[in-house]
Amino acid sequence: MKVEEYSLLDVVFPEKKPTKGQIKRLILDISDLFTKKSEFRRNDYLANEDFLKGYLLYFVPLTIAKQYSIFKELFRHPKFKNIRELKVLDIGCGPSPAILPIFRLLNENIIDFEFIRYLGVESQQKAINYAEKFLLFFKKQGLNVKYDFFRANAADLEIYKNLKKIKPDIMVFSNSLGEIFDKENFTFEDFVKIVKNFSHKNDNFTLIVIEPGTKKSSMRLHRLRDELIKEAEFYPYSPCLDNLPCSALKANNWCYEERKWKAPEYLRFLSSMGLQIKYMKFSYIILRKDRINIKETFEPSEEIIKNTSHLLNEKGKSRLWACWKGRLIDMEKLKRDFSEDDLWLNIRKGSYFSIDRFIPINDKKVRISKDCKIKILYEP
Ligand SMILES: C[S@@+](CC[C@H](N)C(=O)[O-])C[C@H]1O[C@@H](n2cnc3c(N)ncnc32)[C@H](O)[C@@H]1O
Repeated sequence: MKVEEYSLLDVVFPEKKPTKGQIKRLILDISDLFTKKSEFRRNDYLANEDFLKGYLLYFVPLTIAKQYSIFKELFRHPKFKNIRELKVLDIGCGPSPAILPIFRLLNENIIDFEFIRYLGVESQQKAINYAEKFLLFFKKQGLNVKYDFFRANAADLEIYKNLKKIKPDIMVFSNSLGEIFDKENFTFEDFVKIVKNFSHKNDNFTLIVIEPGTKKSSMRLHRLRDELIKEAEFYPYSPCLDNLPCSALKANNWCYEERKWKAPEYLRFLSSMGLQIKYMKFSYIILRKDRINIKETFEPSEEIIKNTSHLLNEKGKSRLWACWKGRLIDMEKLKRDFSEDDLWLNIRKGSYFSIDRFIPINDKKVRISKDCKIKILYEP
């Protein structure tokens, strides 16, 4: 079965399908557990059958979509063109192993791996059972996959000694690091130590950390990013364009992504209840040792910039917040300078774009002139 068909409802409820009311209840309960009731959430919440089902129906397809867009962004780099084997270590994999979006990319011929080694580490057995079920259900026919799930506490530094043997190319923490930090006695120093252990003498090593798109989680993730750059000589692949300290943190601000999402059919009725089914909000980092960066996948341009905000429409102008050479820059264009089909108006949050000139207003603000050539390079 192709993972993009998202037939999770069939896997989770193979016999009697739940009613819309039952689906709604399961999803609202698990959503509340991650928001309003998060301080009461125990680490074994997936042992509860109802929380688990709610997670499977809503968060699993959402996670697959987030991971898909992140892996797609990574694998577009020419560095992956001739790679045929991939080893993935997924910490706190839950029921949503990070190999599922890779199956989808293989189906779409975006990548061409012949062998995948996958190891998921997870503390909850019920989550592992579903992870394995999904892996087998969605596995591409004929693909050579060797997989294991290891039931363990990811905050226990001892387990990483054995895991080192698999020499992962990619280590993923998808929506799990915050839980480990929040509920276990686990520090930034512990994390840096673990990751250094895997990246040592491995220039092709990639670290991917995905966190919820909340202020607390995003700011913590970007502090961790700065720490990994400083202490472990990592370099961002994306979303950052350089290894300068995070521009949002410097401005006491936070940076998150908001990407389009086509939710599975059975979730569409939830939009009236305030649940996101068209957009996915999250923060993430992809770090590498070999200093490759997403900008190498764009056509050569003079000034490459990442838009971190929505376009803000104001009287006489529209503005955005750009992450540019390690600073958050207030960028504006006057309405009187707009052209017909002005590309400026199409720069979405999260897009990478280039300009060939600008007018400095002050050290935090620039204006885009009428004759500036704008190119939208990549819209994730
Ligand atoms: C929010 S879920 C994320 C699951 C999956 N990676 C995803 O992105 O959908 C967090 C997962 O981390 C697991 N987890 C939390 N703390 C853990 C720990 N100390 N050791 C191992 N797993 C842990 C939880 O059981 C849960 O499955």
